[in-house]
Amino acid sequence: MSVPIITIDGPSGSGKGTISHLLSEKLGWNLLDSGSIYRLCALACLKQDIDLDDESAALVIAQALDIRFEVTKSSVRTLLNDEDVTSTIREETVGMAASKIAAYPSVRSALLSCQKAFAKTPGLVADGRDMGTVVFPDAALKFFLTASAQTRADRRVKQLSEQGVAADYDEVLTAIKLRDFQDENRKSAPLKPADDAILVDSSHIGIDDVLAVMVQNIERVLTNK
Ligand code: C5P
Repeated sequence: MSVPIITIDGPSGSGKGTISHLLSEKLGWNLLDSGSIYRLCALACLKQDIDLDDESAALVIAQALDIRFEVTKSSVRTLLNDEDVTSTIREETVGMAASKIAAYPSVRSALLSCQKAFAKTPGLVADGRDMGTVVFPDAALKFFLTASAQTRADRRVKQLSEQGVAADYDEVLTAIKLRDFQDENRKSAPLKPADDAILVDSSHIGIDDVLAVMVQNIERVLTNK
């Protein structure tokens, strides 16, 4: 029997991480945060001082990646070579490096089997850029969650300030636009909605409303209501 999969793709800061987490909890399904795998690979490259312009050097790192996710009820600890890097991989330098190595087709294909392995019973919520287009094209239900770059920058500045980190709105907005550009314009698995994805724009609605729209669609598709 095939494992039911829901994919949630979208640009950085669209809220897909939060939504995917809430949905996987609600359904009691596994969760794949595919961005964290690209971030882990990028961090491994940075730690080994790899030239990020060198695809073959990045591929060697991707092929030897030693990563682990320790899932508890309330959190996920992310380990690289047994070191807890849960917060380090969230830094913007790591995000930008991830976006750079994620443009390499050989790196993407080296990281594919590790992502597919998350498809286990009772089901999977997969969050990323190409979940519905490349990794799980046969998913039962696909969402593309987006929001304007300004809204996403606002949210990021607020999130950083809650963590006690001062951030400049214009700098955050520029970084978001740059990462969007890189992710949307690469040749290999660019960020774009799958043809059969349901588009959800969260620019003017909150998390609860986004979740409600998704749950309505999930009930309709998974229970044929
Ligand atoms: O989602 P997150 O911001 O953690 O992802 C970091 C980067 O990893 C993205 O900007 C993107 O370039 C890359 N990525 C990807 N494909 C995915 C998930 C993330 O290319 N499925």
